Amino acid sequence: MQKITLANGHALDLVGTGTNTFGKINHEYTQGLSNDLSDMAYAIQAGYRLFDTAVSYRTEPIVGQGLANSALARDQFFITTKFPGRDDDPKDRQNEARIRQIIDQSFANLQTDRIDLYLLHHPWKNHEDILRVWRVLESYVNAGRINSLGVSNYDQELLEFLMAHARIQPVLNQIESHPGRWNDDLIVFTQAKGLVAQAWGPLTNVAETSREALSEIGQKYGKSWAQVALKYNVQRQVAVIPKSHQLCHQEANLDIFDFTLSAEDLAHIQKL
Ligand SMILES: NC(=O)c1ccc[n+]([C@@H]2O[C@H](COP(=O)([O-])OP(=O)(O)OC[C@H]3O[C@@H](n4cnc5c(N)ncnc54)[C@H](OP(=O)(O)O)[C@@H]3O)[C@@H](O)[C@H]2O)c1
Repeated sequence: MQKITLANGHALDLVGTGTNTFGKINHEYTQGLSNDLSDMAYAIQAGYRLFDTAVSYRTEPIVGQGLANSALARDQFFITTKFPGRDDDPKDRQNEARIRQIIDQSFANLQTDRIDLYLLHHPWKNHEDILRVWRVLESYVNAGRINSLGVSNYDQELLEFLMAHARIQPVLNQIESHPGRWNDDLIVFTQAKGLVAQAWGPLTNVAETSREALSEIGQKYGKSWAQVALKYNVQRQVAVIPKSHQLCHQEANLDIFDFTLSAEDLAHIQKL
């Protein structure tokens, strides 16, 4: 697995797995947990070592149990989770005790005493809220319990605000990026600030015409539309976290390191 080095020196796999519907009834996001661990077992079997979860997904216990059931030692895998709460739902970030309770629950759910990367899941207009949660997360880094901090869905303005006030800098911005919505400006800005950009939903909402164009490009390399879409991001050092409930797709999404898209292909894909 190719890795990218975060600004704090820790390494991050360029391809990890999303988990937001793992172990859920009918694999539907809004459903409850079925506690079926086969998605995790397949992902581990396929070779994934980076697992992206979040408090809001309610899949931390699935990821934690799936990893506990595996033969993997703690230093062989990487867990990302995220602090919850939309802009209009501030209840979980009003005081330090509640913030600590939420973070501590992630450790319990994930059955670990160390989390590799903890992100703020959503941007909040209230800057005090951001810094209140960030300061608590920084204390976990200082205590050696979280390795790296980052954000998700942060735009240029909010990223600059946080970087100006953080004592421990964010090292990653997780951003929606896929054909039809590459989000190139934000990705370029994120990288220029020294953060790693990581693409969420890298295979979602892809128009049929885009799939056909990607398939055509993929034929030259013996790769599928999905592999070409992932490679477009990975080739420009954007990490990806595709998710699949099928072992064959999970394996295919890791098998993208034996070809290089041409400059002409990149220019074509960028316009999709
Ligand atoms: N930070 C955020 O705000 C945020 C928001 C959304 C998601 N995320 C994270 O990003 C992860 C990925 O996003 P996502 O789960 O929304 O969707 P995704 O990974 O972009 O796409 C998943 C879909 O693609 C299909 N697929 C996967 N591999 C394929 C392949 N090789 N060929 C054809 N189809 C393939 C899957 O179907 P099959 O199961 O049939 O393969 C599934 O329907 C999430 O799980 C979550 O961890 C973060």
